[in-house]
This record gives sequence, structure tokens and C-alpha cells, in this order.
Amino acid sequence: MLIRTPRGWELPERQATPEHLVFGRRAALGGTMALGAALVAPRAAAAQSAAAEFPAAVRNLRFSPGRDITGERDATTYNNYYEFGSDKGIHRAAQRLPTRPWTVKVDGLVDRPREYSVDDLLKAMPIEERVYRLRCVEAWSMVVPWTGFPISALLEAVGPQSSAKYLRFETAAMPSVMPGLRQSWYPWPYIEGCTIEEAANELSFLVVGAYGKPLLPQNGAPIRFHQPWKYGFKAGKSLVRISLVAERPKSFWEAIQASEYGFWANVNPEVAHPRWSQASERVLGTGERVPTQIFNGYGEFVAGLYTNLQRERLWA
Ligand code: MTE
Repeated sequence: MLIRTPRGWELPERQATPEHLVFGRRAALGGTMALGAALVAPRAAAAQSAAAEFPAAVRNLRFSPGRDITGERDATTYNNYYEFGSDKGIHRAAQRLPTRPWTVKVDGLVDRPREYSVDDLLKAMPIEERVYRLRCVEAWSMVVPWTGFPISALLEAVGPQSSAKYLRFETAAMPSVMPGLRQSWYPWPYIEGCTIEEAANELSFLVVGAYGKPLLPQNGAPIRFHQPWKYGFKAGKSLVRISLVAERPKSFWEAIQASEYGFWANVNPEVAHPRWSQASERVLGTGERVPTQIFNGYGEFVAGLYTNLQRERLWA
């Protein structure tokens, strides 16, 4: 059997030109053609001006996903967002999330604590596009072009103190729009965390968009986290606060079931979940089953983070 591995710069057709860049070009043409502009329907014009506030991001080809990008519809209609309900079809309910105005407080053991509006972050941070794999602990996966910025840029802005060892991510809890919060046995709000070394790794990404557009509520608008070598539950959605702390934060899932979901949660096909195998994963959209890779295939970037941590439960 002939197996041909594409090189970093060889992109499958469907990855070629991001949709927003095509739309951006059309908008620019529209601007020079007065008649064309006059014919644009008001709704479309409003959509274009909203898109204009969202920065066009250049794709960073350093992180080639090695797989086709998941269809946008699949990635935006099959979601985990327990605040809106525990089934995968919460995308309609999630539209009630008000995503502006929105602020994220960055506080704790930092020299310059600050409350940022998401729009300020869009202007101040080095925005780029990265196509990352996401592997859910439930053994399905997807590949998404995320727009965002490395969290290291935010850390640089706030100046972590030497006593800061962990980041604690707190996500929105809005009972008026989130019916899931009525399920009072869950330990709301959804909390996640990582070490400061993990956050400083170049892969750690704060996400503000997907498929060249602002993030949709069901995917964690207006800002979420993503560390692609970890199981997807580490990626807190709709962040409201990032605190630098000395103690290891206890996460939402760890608080519910510590024997199944731990702090580190690095992807490892050889360490089964107590109730199912992690050896392979179902690709969202195609349904194909593919082998799962250690660190979700990102070992070259992150394995070094764990060399002195063999005694920790790194894989669940
Ligand atoms: N963040 C919040 N606030 N609430 C959640 O229920 N689910 C997590 C994570 N972030 C979750 C969350 C899980 S289990 C996964 S797999 C990913 O979001 C799914 O992201 P997606 O819906 O964009 O695919």
C-alpha cells in the first residue's frame, strides 16, 4: 500500500483559502464599486460590517493538522456545553448567550491585574489562525481552524509573579440563559486549570474565532481555551476569569468524578478511560475511526513538559 504523507506546505483543496479571506476580498471589491455597494441588502451589509471588526487572521502553518478540516456544520452542531444541557444538540439553546459586552478578569499572583474587554484583546493580542485537532475524552475528534492568540502573550502583559504555579480558568455561569445550571448537583461554575509551564507552551491558545468568523456561542463564545494535546474537557468555554494561583485548581469534572477525570488529562491511547478504550477515535463528520496518538500527536511540542512528572497521573 502506498502511503503518501503531505508536507507542511501541501494543503488539501478544502484547506486552501479560508472563507473569510475570500469574503474580505469581495468586501474590498464592493467598496470600489459604488453600484455594487448600493445593491447590497441591509442585512448583508450589517453582517459585513460586523465581520469587519473581527480581524482577518493569517494561518500559522507550523501546526499542520495532518487531517482534513471538519465541516463547519459538524463542529458547530455537535457540542459539549453542559451549562446549556447535557446532550450534543445545545447549539440552538446556546444562541441566548449574550457575548457582548464581555470582559475577562486576569488576576491573582500577577504584577498588573486587569479586566480586559474581549474587543480590547482582539486589538491588542497577536491574532493568528491555527488548525488544531481536538480529541474529546468521549473518543470523538475534530479538526478546526481556530482564530486566537497564544496565552503566553496575555501572561506577558500581566506579569506573573514567581509564586504563581497554576492558571485557574473560570467560565460564565448565567442562570437566566443557561438551563443546565438548574442541575444543582453539578459544581458550577465550570472550572479548569493547567500549570504555568503548560500555559507558557507555544501550543496553548486562547480562541476567539473558528472558520474565520467570531466564535459561536455553542463553541464557547466569545473566548475559550484550547490545549490540543489534552482531552477537550480541559478547554473551558466562555471564559470570564483567569487567575494565577499557587495551589492546583480542582476542575469541574475532577470534582464530579476524580477517578475518571484528573488534572493533567493528556491524551494517551494506551490508558483507557475506566469505562471505555482510548485507543481510537471517531472522526466527526465522516464517522471514520482512526488510531489516537499520544499527546494527540503533539508530543514533539509538549512531551518535554512532563519528563520530571512521572509520579503524577498524567493521562486521565
Ligand atoms: N466548557 C464549558 N464551560 N462547559 C462545558 O460543558 N465541555 C468541554 C469543553 N469545554 C465544556 C466546556 C468538553 S467535554 C469538550 S469535549 C469541549 O468543550 C467541546 O468543545 P466543542 O463543543 O467546541 O467541540
